[in-house]
Amino acid sequence: MAAQKTILRALSGETLPVPPVWLMRQAGRYLPEYRATRAQAGDFLSLCYTPELAAEVTLQPIRRYGFDAAILFADILLIAQALGADLWFAQGEGPRLSTVTGPADLARLKPAGAIHTTLAPVYDTVRLLTGALPAETTLIGFAGAPWTVASYMIAGRGTPDQGPAHALMQADPATFDALIALLTEATVEYLSAQIAAGAEVVKLFDSWAGSLKGADFARYAVEPTRQIIAALKARHPGIPVIAFPREAGQGYIGFARATGADCVALDNSVSADWAAANVQVDGCVQGNLAPGHMVTGGPALVEEARRIVRAFSGGPHIFNLGHGITPEADPANVDLLLKAIRG
Ligand code: CP3
Repeated sequence: MAAQKTILRALSGETLPVPPVWLMRQAGRYLPEYRATRAQAGDFLSLCYTPELAAEVTLQPIRRYGFDAAILFADILLIAQALGADLWFAQGEGPRLSTVTGPADLARLKPAGAIHTTLAPVYDTVRLLTGALPAETTLIGFAGAPWTVASYMIAGRGTPDQGPAHALMQADPATFDALIALLTEATVEYLSAQIAAGAEVVKLFDSWAGSLKGADFARYAVEPTRQIIAALKARHPGIPVIAFPREAGQGYIGFARATGADCVALDNSVSADWAAANVQVDGCVQGNLAPGHMVTGGPALVEEARRIVRAFSGGPHIFNLGHGITPEADPANVDLLLKAIRG
């Protein structure tokens, strides 16, 4: 039965007549029902850590649109908090964390195995979803990739160029490498627990992979991803993994082969035709409509969606955006998108 789910079929390499579809941040502020549940929770982190409410917002876009996959509602930065960092979301300003700038900060973090105490509610959310999702909907768990999570832990916030993380990599490579190693181990623990609770696929978000160049890309984007996937597949044989090294550019080529990922998610800075020829040759790809179309809609949305479906029609493809849907998106444009893809 499980093998019939369209997302799992695409991930196993099947070319489907209509690509399965879900959207990054599909549970989010563009939906009035999300805003209502978030208000009920009080704040974003309480929403993440209250299993009934986190499961509810995960289900909202499934009820409204019938996406082929649900993605667990949580955040990539919860793992930093579980390792002992302070984490808060300043209203309208994004995440803030205590910083890791040297060996003393690193020494204050907990070992990887300690994360489950804080993250137990996330596993409860997964268990609730396993019982609540329609039979045809695939449940995706996720984590941030070590480089991206480290970039927030080092800077204490989001940064346009990950400057503080690059600086620590140069100034104190021992601390930097130890933080990446800790996050690699903790991410295996975290995703493994999500899988044990019922996640059928896991995705690694390396949102800032694009700022790693040359040997740094190989060392801090490819290698941690390879290690995490190898460990997960040893513990959970056959578990499909989607990797998203956002803005990797030429680095997308061979990324699946180098890491063992079953699918590479593509941002919208690469053309679908280029990616079909250079990335999809190695297996399933996911993507890559520009999120702005979900704000503007109209014939341009329909044409661009169809163009992407055609470009990837010769191989396994999961339709998605190139990055998360934004709060300004019009919910009606999601209906328009689904009609364009499903006919
Ligand atoms: O629907 C889903 O995609 C599942 C839930 C999910 C969220 N964040 C919820 C969220 C997922 C998979 C993420 C991943 C995430 N979080 C990433 C990687 C993907 C990417 O966008 O590149 C990153 C970098 C983060 C860190 C993060 N969380 C930031 C920078 C912000 C603030 C920016 C913003 O959009 O406001 C968040 C907050 C966040 N995470 C929101 C949601 C729905 C908005 C918070 C709110 O409701 O106020």
